[in-house]
Amino acid sequence: MPDRRSMFPVSRRTFLKSAALASPMLAMPALSWGRIMGSNDRITIGVIGTGGMGTVHVEDFLKIQKSGTENIEVIRVCDVYRRRLNNAVRLIGGSESSGSMEYERVIDDRDVSAVLIATPDHWHTKMAIEAMDAGKDVYCEKPLSLTIEQAIECRDAVRRTGRVLQVGPQGTSEDRWWKAREIIGSGKIGRVVWSQGAYCRNSREGQFNWRIDPDAGPSSPSGGDGYIDWDRWLGHRWGLAPKIEWNADHFFRFRKYYAYNGGVATDLMYHRLAPLLIAIAGPNGQYPRRVSASGGLYIENDGRDIGDTMILNVDYDAPYEGASGHTVTLASVMVNDVGLEDAIRGQYGTLRPRGGGWSLTEQSAWAKEFRAANAQAGISSEAKPGEASLEIASGSRRNHKENWFDAIRGKAQPHCNIELGCATMVAIKMGVESFRRSQTLVWDARKEAAVVSGA
Ligand SMILES: NC(=O)c1ccc[n+]([C@@H]2O[C@H](COP(=O)([O-])OP(=O)(O)OC[C@H]3O[C@@H](n4cnc5c(N)ncnc54)[C@H](O)[C@@H]3O)[C@@H](O)[C@H]2O)c1
Repeated sequence: MPDRRSMFPVSRRTFLKSAALASPMLAMPALSWGRIMGSNDRITIGVIGTGGMGTVHVEDFLKIQKSGTENIEVIRVCDVYRRRLNNAVRLIGGSESSGSMEYERVIDDRDVSAVLIATPDHWHTKMAIEAMDAGKDVYCEKPLSLTIEQAIECRDAVRRTGRVLQVGPQGTSEDRWWKAREIIGSGKIGRVVWSQGAYCRNSREGQFNWRIDPDAGPSSPSGGDGYIDWDRWLGHRWGLAPKIEWNADHFFRFRKYYAYNGGVATDLMYHRLAPLLIAIAGPNGQYPRRVSASGGLYIENDGRDIGDTMILNVDYDAPYEGASGHTVTLASVMVNDVGLEDAIRGQYGTLRPRGGGWSLTEQSAWAKEFRAANAQAGISSEAKPGEASLEIASGSRRNHKENWFDAIRGKAQPHCNIELGCATMVAIKMGVESFRRSQTLVWDARKEAAVVSGA
């Protein structure tokens, strides 16, 4: 069954309506109490979702806080699972009132200037939009959203509010991708035609079958560590996921179920596609033209929705004048960990990772052009066509959180800005739908909607 909140206009309206109902903030003018951050002001952070990744973020922030280098402070945490909430409150050394199970308390707190969202995907954009409408800057974990409509809604909210939003794929802060952009932009491998990336794993337990706390659930005593506000986790009240009875596998292993995410595509391929788009199309990425996915659930048949083997092909038009159309191939296999090495193929040459930077190898048919485009590299005239290769090192760059702070202080653009985050989400979500429906999808750029090819 296709995801009922996947691609169709009705869900966009539903989302808007429910978002408006849920937050009185949305009725207020943009930037109503948002502060304009000066370079010396303290960035005061609220973290929503303090599970696996949210806790990593809190710990990172605390290290940065302790080092005193960035003038930041985590002042609020939020989770619907009491054990995780208590743990986060303990970590930040806060009073009981610094933690809450209701995310609205973070968004309503005028002392919070920036919000990091690390809940499961179905909550991301609702929280992000409400935070921005309350004048806060946002770090939203990847993937940007559950649905295409939510991603576009969130992109439009950034444009409307002017707030900073960093999307979570931290690989976009690796300098090598920005170096690849320079290499490609200066014509050193000719027009890019095909690139690839992969994220593959293998495990005896079955991928994503993470530990379940036996005492956890909504029927645990509400003051106790095991208590979970299951209704708030589902978010069915806001139309974010279907209402179902308590299900520990859904809570602890949400990646296995389409109601909350898109499996390996949203969890892993998103990490690979966003940096490739920076290299090939530039900082704002690019929307796809046609997407088709293949693969299946070959081994991990434990009642999960998602596949364990997925190959995705995304076709793009030329991203800018002088470029050509191109295709990105992504692989994510959870039952064998031998993936595909990153590669970006141009007509004259190929980029492959080498050390922290890139190796460039020429195509023999276009050796003359490759050498002309790389004239400063001192390629020996003795080298036979097809034999020349050179290495280009990358530099250093502020990491993903530091870049977020810089963006909040007006000193930089987010490395994964909303345009890139949204364009990446569109291709990835189209991949999820293509996989589920066994259909090729095309992007209708005018309507900003995915449609079945040939329908
Ligand atoms: N960038 C990365 O490398 C990376 C790595 C892991 C996870 N992630 C992303 O982080 C997000 C969370 O993943 P995870 O593995 O930490 O999941 P998790 O289940 O461990 O943590 C999510 C937490 O959010 C809480 N939550 C759910 N709904 C909530 C609500 N309405 N209000 C407050 N809290 C709520 C849950 O109780 C849970 O503790 C996902 O979107 C995932 O894709 C990113």
